[in-house]
Amino acid sequence: MKTRRILAMILLLCLLLAACGQTGESEEKNPLPETGAPAETRTTDKNSATEETGSETAINPATEPAEETPSVPKETGYPIFDFEKKTVTLNSGHEMPILGLGMFSLSDSEAENSTYWALKAGFRLIDTARIYGNEAAVGRGLQKAIDEGIVTREEVFITTKMWTSDFSNGDAAIDTSLDRLGVDYIDLMILHHSQPSNDVDAYQAMERAVADGKLKSIGLSNYYEPEDFDRLVNATTIKPALLQNETHPYHQSGEMKDHIARYGTVLESWFPLGGRGNTQTLFNDETIRGIAEAHGVSSAQVIIRWHLQAGNICIPGSSNEQHIIEDYDVWDFELTEDEMNQMTALEKDERFADY
Ligand SMILES: NC(=O)c1ccc[n+]([C@@H]2O[C@H](COP(=O)([O-])OP(=O)(O)OC[C@H]3O[C@@H](n4cnc5c(N)ncnc54)[C@H](OP(=O)(O)O)[C@@H]3O)[C@@H](O)[C@H]2O)c1
Repeated sequence: MKTRRILAMILLLCLLLAACGQTGESEEKNPLPETGAPAETRTTDKNSATEETGSETAINPATEPAEETPSVPKETGYPIFDFEKKTVTLNSGHEMPILGLGMFSLSDSEAENSTYWALKAGFRLIDTARIYGNEAAVGRGLQKAIDEGIVTREEVFITTKMWTSDFSNGDAAIDTSLDRLGVDYIDLMILHHSQPSNDVDAYQAMERAVADGKLKSIGLSNYYEPEDFDRLVNATTIKPALLQNETHPYHQSGEMKDHIARYGTVLESWFPLGGRGNTQTLFNDETIRGIAEAHGVSSAQVIIRWHLQAGNICIPGSSNEQHIIEDYDVWDFELTEDEMNQMTALEKDERFADY
């Protein structure tokens, strides 16, 4: 009897212990109620995830729609420069030289000679524009270099720009540039300036020309606000391969460069030396002069080399053969990390042009 009572008490004790254990576990399994946003608003939104976290890793692929509108940027990253080949592969898949010669404000004879001298010196990229009035002269300089066996057409990368007054008539403007340059295709055409009233029409004309094989790559120039760049990108299909903006040590375009990286768009610097009439300001900058002396090169060469190492395609302008040779002679020295940091510190957010 006594034994039975003891057994009953043990059984009761076990039951009590089991009941306590159950309570403890259930408390652990139900911690504080969900602290985050309500379930329905926690569904991943690709746009906001990308903007807020700056990373696509926050996106749950299972909830990601198969194809979104062009407003959703692909985090393709900033294009990498190949210093051996002296080129970069654009987001269009085409290779582009990272150093070229610019034709702004050159007369016909200057543009023809400079194009020819540039190709002789090793340049493989020429930057012109319909508004410079020297596309035909560039075509002649190119043809001369081809005739002399210096280059083939395929080895040369020609950029031209569609001027704003042609934006409503883009198809014809492209054909006219092809005629003036005397080429079957243009490697890169860019819209010369943002013009919200009709730049989308002009860009769509360039997209048609890509499909027709008249243009290899297309891009933009003079878009200085991320919102303005996105306005055009969101209304069109082909991501701009390149953005050409005023860029030099006193205006380094960091914000736009970061922004366009999400489209795999590369930055190209116009006024890389400060522009005609301003070059002495940069050439005589103490930091730039100091670095030039350390390497036994000119200030112009230091600035060009800085552009390239910073990931900016660089197109200095010149009508002087010696300067052209000098501007291409930038492959045998390299700015150190400290020198690159010194150059970065020159940023003043100061443009030389007023447009
Ligand atoms: N998208 C746009 O709105 C836009 C606007 C402006 C320019 N761009 C493009 O960007 C290109 C470059 O701009 P930019 O030509 O106006 O300005 P830049 O290249 O900054 O400067 C040109 C000036 O630099 C001088 N120069 C060049 N190499 C030199 C050297 N080694 N030593 C001393 N001086 C040197 C040139 O004089 P010399 O002739 O005597 O060599 C000229 O006076 C243009 O040609 C054009 O293709 C585009």
